Amino acid sequence: MKIAILGTGTVAQTLANVLSTLGYPLMLGTRQVTDTLHRKSFADWHQQNQSINIGNFEEAAAFGDCIINALQGHATLSVLKQIPKASLDHKVMIDIANPLDFSHGFPPCLIEGLHNTHSLGEAIQQLLPDTFVVKTLNTMWCGLMVNPQLINDGNHINYICGNDDSAKQRVLKLLNAFGWKNENILDLGDISNARGTESTLLLWTRIYAATKSGAFNMNIVK
Ligand SMILES: NC(=O)c1ccc[n+]([C@@H]2O[C@H](COP(=O)([O-])OP(=O)(O)OC[C@H]3O[C@@H](n4cnc5c(N)ncnc54)[C@H](OP(=O)(O)O)[C@@H]3O)[C@@H](O)[C@H]2O)c1
Repeated sequence: MKIAILGTGTVAQTLANVLSTLGYPLMLGTRQVTDTLHRKSFADWHQQNQSINIGNFEEAAAFGDCIINALQGHATLSVLKQIPKASLDHKVMIDIANPLDFSHGFPPCLIEGLHNTHSLGEAIQQLLPDTFVVKTLNTMWCGLMVNPQLINDGNHINYICGNDDSAKQRVLKLLNAFGWKNENILDLGDISNARGTESTLLLWTRIYAATKSGAFNMNIVK
């Protein structure tokens, strides 16, 4: 399975490192390939990972059998609108993005119109009704996404939601390959549950500010 990652930031690089080690052919998508290849924060990483392809968003989406959305939340919908629908239809899209609005500083709020009674995950699904959107991994620091064992012996919570059960099963296998145990993956149901997981960022960012560390997660205790 070929995987496209939309975005070239910390999340994209972290996922690409592990997916590449797992043997998946990859392409990262960006606005301007040349600019990105010259950006120090990307160039240093790419120097160590030269076999990983980079293209524009359209090229990356066309390449991937599965697409990972690792874009900033505010940019996600406009980027997806510029990609030909045929490159996204009938594919699984793993949505890791959060609709964060930093315009008033830190901690961020959630983007107006994409919270409470709506969410970024739902907005993507509405924009792309023939794509199987699965929201997961967005509630934690990216170091934990691909290495849950880093804390508490891997026992902390990752949520998954989406409208298509078989798409969720396929994503579950990828999560297992990252080290997530099934008992620590909670299926919340359809994509409207992204309202809940995206909202946890209001708390996550405050815990991060108070503890000065992103290497934490939450758990369900009964
Ligand atoms: N960092 C984490 O640990 C973490 C954890 C959980 C969830 N998330 C979520 O994951 C996503 C990616 O996080 P990140 O830290 O890797 O983000 P980032 O580096 O700040 O940005 C990711 C990508 O967003 C694209 N982008 C930004 N503004 C854009 C615009 N105006 N138009 C088009 N594209 C634009 C950039 O594309 P270019 O390549 O063209 O620059 C960049 O590669 C975010 O939604 C974040 O909330 C992050």
